[in-house]
Amino acid sequence: MTLEDTKAARVEELARAKVNLALHITGQREDGYHLLDSLVVFPKVGDRITVETAPDLSLQITGDFAEKIQGDPSDNLVYKAAQLLAEHVPNASGTRIELEKSLPVAAGIGGGSADAAATLRALAKLWGTSPAPTDLARLSLSLGADVPMCLEEKPARIRGIGEVIEPVTSFPSGAIVLVNPMIEISTPTIFRALEKKDNAPLPEMPAEFESMKALANWLKSCRNDLQKPAISQAAEISEVLDLLASQPDTLLARMSGSGATCFALCETLEAAQSIATHLQDLHSDWWIRAAEV
Ligand code: C5P
Repeated sequence: MTLEDTKAARVEELARAKVNLALHITGQREDGYHLLDSLVVFPKVGDRITVETAPDLSLQITGDFAEKIQGDPSDNLVYKAAQLLAEHVPNASGTRIELEKSLPVAAGIGGGSADAAATLRALAKLWGTSPAPTDLARLSLSLGADVPMCLEEKPARIRGIGEVIEPVTSFPSGAIVLVNPMIEISTPTIFRALEKKDNAPLPEMPAEFESMKALANWLKSCRNDLQKPAISQAAEISEVLDLLASQPDTLLARMSGSGATCFALCETLEAAQSIATHLQDLHSDWWIRAAEV
């Protein structure tokens, strides 16, 4: 079979949200980037990237949050990811890319990074090319610190500025509720507001978590160091956290990334869905989703 035979005509990829179940800031590099120690998961909630062969490179944006990122398409991380991959593989061709934007933007769940990673995965399939994983990881890191982990979309412990990825293979099954009170947060602003940047790493992680409850109990000895500076900027985050924590089926409530999206871990999808329905009744303008993790 030749490479030509493996080319697809149209490829669709889900760009899953990234959720930091714990996020410790352990230092800062000389270039200003912060060192992290984080546990991340990728629930099946996300944007959709569709690519098909076309005469030129173009980007159409649709979906609930499309109007938030309209403007010059060449500023979009999806477009930059396509240009970058095209420069590094021999089989690149013109491509029409559609981004269906369903995740809130500037929300602490890695939307832009997930989109860029999904674009790299989709184009590698469309162009029938398979850059070595290390090359793809290097390219993806140049697009943003969260992009390499979004390429994998698997539960993982993350270190460095996001590029040191250690898969967590014994991850328990369970579910998550994601809630964003429709407040956009600027990540650099929250990092700048951090008072202490040399926090302790995550505590020792058991080799295996027997259940979601066991994972949630371990997570209680961890934090999200960005939660406090985010709350001082957007007090509504406290309201979301209190509401999530007060639900009987919530095992743990915390903020993801630099916010404002918060999450609740639950044992079952049914429990997560019922919390999501209840909260959506109370706050029809909030973005709320439930999914398995
Ligand atoms: O890499 P990315 O563009 O996603 O990061 C956005 C901003 O967040 C960076 O410009 C930086 O200010 C901050 N950041 C950081 N340390 C990280 C990741 C992001 O300081 N590990």
